[in-house]
Amino acid sequence: TTPAGGEETTPATSGDVITVGFAQVGHESDWRTASTKSAQDVFSAENGYELSFVDCDNDSAAQLEAVRNFIQQGVDYIIIDPIVSTGWDAVLTECEDAGIPVIVIDRTIDDSDKYVSWVGSDFKVEGLACGEWLKAYAEDKGITEINALVIEGSTGASATIGRTDGFKEIADREGWTILASQTGDFTEAGGQEVMESYCQSYAGQFNVVICQNDNEAAGAMTAMDNAGVTYGVGGDVILVSFDANKPYVQMVMEGKINANFECNPMAAPTVAEIIQQLEAGETPEKEIYVTESWFVAEDNVSTITVNGEEQECIYVTQEVL
Ligand code: AHR
Repeated sequence: TTPAGGEETTPATSGDVITVGFAQVGHESDWRTASTKSAQDVFSAENGYELSFVDCDNDSAAQLEAVRNFIQQGVDYIIIDPIVSTGWDAVLTECEDAGIPVIVIDRTIDDSDKYVSWVGSDFKVEGLACGEWLKAYAEDKGITEINALVIEGSTGASATIGRTDGFKEIADREGWTILASQTGDFTEAGGQEVMESYCQSYAGQFNVVICQNDNEAAGAMTAMDNAGVTYGVGGDVILVSFDANKPYVQMVMEGKINANFECNPMAAPTVAEIIQQLEAGETPEKEIYVTESWFVAEDNVSTITVNGEEQECIYVTQEVL
């Protein structure tokens, strides 16, 4: 696998306009907005592309229909960010039969390999990193008992499955208690609703809240503010988030969020490279991981060991932003 830089945009060079259909998950989060904008910037008319963009509004059936419509339209390439990781083989077979290469981004498809390449994050590593950081932080602070509440992302999404599995692996190893783990659907409203119910059901019993994306963290903060629960540096509750959108890295800097594990939304420039390789008759790599960092609010726990390798966390200072 190759780390994707995600900085440069490769313009289409064939002379003909290249038509691309993109079946996007929806518009549930700030991360998703960044992902959509990146694709729209890269697959622009200026760069030699015509983009058919469909916001599938987190509806799996609508996403399958969008892909089938792209086949009908006869686009040159199809990009899919799969809402859920299963149920793909039939429609990918239809793409294959129509001779349209499919490139998968961000979330994975786990029940079919009938796509050219996947570009995205290692969600399990994100969850493991979160657990390893929490272990190191707790040791550093002399916290001997972890009672965690998890607000999961959308059910069936590989981002949710990987982050949940990775964190649980460390929690099981360390003997931590996960009091509850419920979906907040990757939205601010979902995060707030779940946290409100947690604050009622587990009042005074939890010292860690893990939100599987920044929007959920925003909702959880509102719920904790309303319930009088303090969080972040110096608070009663350690608050962790995923995505690390810029405003939420700012919140790490301000100590409102203790640590934030980045999910890089900039897959589109790498997808453009893949398309150019295909146009040139080359075979792209099957799996390409985007590069990611971990941001922490205090510099006393800025390295962690994940999968046996020591990794740097970024201690957030003004210069990082
Ligand atoms: O699949 C990536 C996840 O989906 C991001 O973490 C989340 O913000 C988004 O909605």
